[in-house]
Amino acid sequence: MNILIAYAGSNSTTKICAQLLAEKLPGAHVLNLSHKKPDLNDFDTIIIGSGIRFNNVNKSVLNFIRDNLDLLMKKNTAIYLCCGFPEKINQYLLHNFPKKLLNKATSIHCFGGRLKVKPYRLHDMLIMKMVQKNFKLEKRGFTEIDYDSIQKMADEILALK
Ligand SMILES: Cc1cc2nc3c(=O)[nH]c(=O)nc-3n(C[C@H](O)[C@H](O)[C@H](O)COP(=O)(O)O)c2cc1C
Repeated sequence: MNILIAYAGSNSTTKICAQLLAEKLPGAHVLNLSHKKPDLNDFDTIIIGSGIRFNNVNKSVLNFIRDNLDLLMKKNTAIYLCCGFPEKINQYLLHNFPKKLLNKATSIHCFGGRLKVKPYRLHDMLIMKMVQKNFKLEKRGFTEIDYDSIQKMADEILALK
């Protein structure tokens, strides 16, 4: 099986998750869609990963799906999202991904996300501070990387063999 993990995020969670997943999938290639466009003909299994910001998937991921949808429909596919509110994953999926890609995907998981990040832009930083304050007020634990979900996806992909 030739596996590509194609991801894009704004900080580093989506990248860390791509690397953790790759460690469980021998020979898997990892590629940041913000830096490079992959040639999908080299792969039979494509895992798409994205961070969520303001309910949206990363723009490079959206462009990648738009440009390759026909080819993606002929491959094994999986999707993972990194976000601070895992309970909203269905909303993010339906809002951002073509329905036929969601229906075809072998595996879809939320790998959690990190809310204790320091975004680079002032506007984003102020929003994160507000979100973090609300979490504290609600005595809600901060979301972290969900290692069990990464393992589940690896198992589901390996079962395709
Ligand atoms: C500016 C900003 C906006 C965010 N918006 C959302 C959001 O709408 N929904 C959500 O569940 N998480 C949101 N998050 C949390 C991120 O999804 C989380 O930090 C995730 O780990 C991001 O992945 P990345 O580090 O690869 O960018 C936001 C984070 C930041 C910094």
